[in-house]
Amino acid sequence: MRVSLWTAALAVAALACGPLVAAEGDILVADFEGDTYGDWEVTGEAFGTGPARGTLPNQMEVSGFEGRGLVNSYTGGDRTQGTLTSPEFNIERPYIAFLVGGGQHPGETCVNLVVGGRVVRSATGPNDRAGGTERLDGYTWDVRDLRGRRARVQIVDASSSGWGHINVDEIVQTSRPVGVVESSVELRVDRRYVCFRMPAGAGPTSLVTVWSDEGRVVGYQGGSSAAAAYWVSLSVAGLRGKTVRVSVAEPSRPGHRISIADTVRLSDKPRGFRKVTDQLYKETYRPQFHFTAQRNWHNDPNGCVFLDGEYHLFFQHNPSGIDWGNMTWGHAVSPDLVHWTQLDHAIYPDELGTIFSGSAVIDWGNTAGFAKPGQHAMVAIYTSAGTPFTQSIAYSTDRGRTWTKYAANPVLGNLTEGNRDPKVIWHEPTRKWVMALYLTESDYALFGSPDLKQWTKLSDISMPGSSECPDFFEMPVDGDAARTKWLFWGANSRYMLGSFDGTTFHPETEILQADFGANTYAAQTWSGIPEADGRRIQIAWMAGGQYPGMPFNQQMSFPCELTLRTTPQGIRLFREPVRELELLRGRVHEWHDTDLATDGDPLATLKGDLFEIQADLEPGPDAEVTFTIRGQTVTYSAAKGTIVALGKEAPVALEDGRLRLQILVDRTSIEVFANSGRVVLSSCFLPDAMDQSLGLSATGRATARSLRVYELKSAWPQA
Ligand code: FRU
Repeated sequence: MRVSLWTAALAVAALACGPLVAAEGDILVADFEGDTYGDWEVTGEAFGTGPARGTLPNQMEVSGFEGRGLVNSYTGGDRTQGTLTSPEFNIERPYIAFLVGGGQHPGETCVNLVVGGRVVRSATGPNDRAGGTERLDGYTWDVRDLRGRRARVQIVDASSSGWGHINVDEIVQTSRPVGVVESSVELRVDRRYVCFRMPAGAGPTSLVTVWSDEGRVVGYQGGSSAAAAYWVSLSVAGLRGKTVRVSVAEPSRPGHRISIADTVRLSDKPRGFRKVTDQLYKETYRPQFHFTAQRNWHNDPNGCVFLDGEYHLFFQHNPSGIDWGNMTWGHAVSPDLVHWTQLDHAIYPDELGTIFSGSAVIDWGNTAGFAKPGQHAMVAIYTSAGTPFTQSIAYSTDRGRTWTKYAANPVLGNLTEGNRDPKVIWHEPTRKWVMALYLTESDYALFGSPDLKQWTKLSDISMPGSSECPDFFEMPVDGDAARTKWLFWGANSRYMLGSFDGTTFHPETEILQADFGANTYAAQTWSGIPEADGRRIQIAWMAGGQYPGMPFNQQMSFPCELTLRTTPQGIRLFREPVRELELLRGRVHEWHDTDLATDGDPLATLKGDLFEIQADLEPGPDAEVTFTIRGQTVTYSAAKGTIVALGKEAPVALEDGRLRLQILVDRTSIEVFANSGRVVLSSCFLPDAMDQSLGLSATGRATARSLRVYELKSAWPQA
């Protein structure tokens, strides 16, 4: 035991711990200064044949370790895995302290304390995303309750993804905690959630992990840099009657009397959701008729499914951060695709990983056997984004309110490093479920299943230029149910039309562009829409909008109805806002046969931030017609045969000499639908709060045969 260990730890933990001096009576477990691991047991390749001497090839500089040697599982890079296990020893001091760095993948890149064959403590490094540091920091297990027990330390690298390695050094039994201190709370589960309060600015070294009594990770939450403290709720609904262990790792902070561990409790209500009373949904940059999460980051729409009068919209959500991370399925429902109510989170990360994108179906035939008589199971099919990525399912028999993960997950094993985003439909002619799955680069594949549990590969699909989030479905052409085409969709709004024989998709078109705007991504269509309605309805993530200072980040598109229609170029996809938009219409302003070059600007007197504009224009061959919306422009140029909206260009042809436009204006987005949705440009913008003006002008000859502007109402509850 050398004093300098503590000096190293002190450098990072000084504020927390005050000066540290090697205390008399500490017991060294291992310092990894030898050429071999001695009597430690090694499996796999990740740990090499003996302790590393610092940084390994292709690794960022490793620092903070003590002496010459340390455990560094980066041997062979992140890809390699393995374990390193100490001989048994007696726990004779109140704390076990060590230095740790590397990946933050609970259960996968970790140092475990094993007592009686069970993992009773577990620590990770601080890194769960690109960037970060290879520095080792002090970490302490509070083992006062384990004194006198026989124990082993086990160092695990079971991850091949980014930060798929762990660094450890200087393990000692001591009477003095160092750096991050981990404590442990055992709870008997009699409520749906484990809740705890993450303090402001907790940072990545704070980590709360819920463990099942078999030592599986049920859920976890790392700290963020959030400026205010917030509550986190992790679902333990499936573990009622069992015991869970909640481990809380947090920097010791003298003077802060409330630790995360003191706030851990069970609850039937998830904490952390604001009630729709105060200023929620009224914020400066809050879209008023586009879905946004109440708070924090969201991206892709997931699990779009209709049941019993409700449209369900699940979405990629970070429960505790304004940026992407901690992917969990958020959940909202709507009776009409316009008014949304956000519910509790539906599917939380587990030992198979965080919950990436996927879809949902109603299992009408109870093929999976999840429903009791009289019930219909809603089944979600999603990517378990752990190491490696696999596909899993979960089900709900109470209208999506509570979810149970299938016990034998995953249902489709790992195929490629990034395989993800399963979209499932029922294929009646061959009476099976069909899954479209993204594999890698621009490769996708189809899989078939009788019961949503057993999947076999049907065929491959390649879509050069696209990746991620496929959608795959059949639609009538020109409304004729006897004439259908299949559409295969990639996340960047490209699609192909063709046929599907139950095994293989046969493309019949080139790859076509459905949206020309700046922000449409990862669109998904609803399943389960009753035949009597028969619509194919789609919603997209408007990726990349900006919402400075807002409690939320990102927005969805306005839902669109899709149709296939015959055009001179062949069969094409048309996308138009769903008719339920009319629920939001307020005052209307109308003009007819306005000569735009000579009659002046008809829109000059209108002010506001929520509009639907419908225009039937007759532009002459030299016309350039421009809508100006809060300083943003949408311009049709007859000479070029294009529309440029918010800087993005799309080709557009007149039909019978006319250009028909429908433009949806929300606070931070403008969606332009030309010629009944033949051409669509959806883009976000950051408005100048002071500029609420509208305008319409033309150069050359142009007539507005009809022009209608609806003032739109907010879709959010007005408390
Ligand atoms: C698309 C995507 C998906 C993935 C999800 C993760 O935006 O990258 O491929 O499942 O987001 O949030």
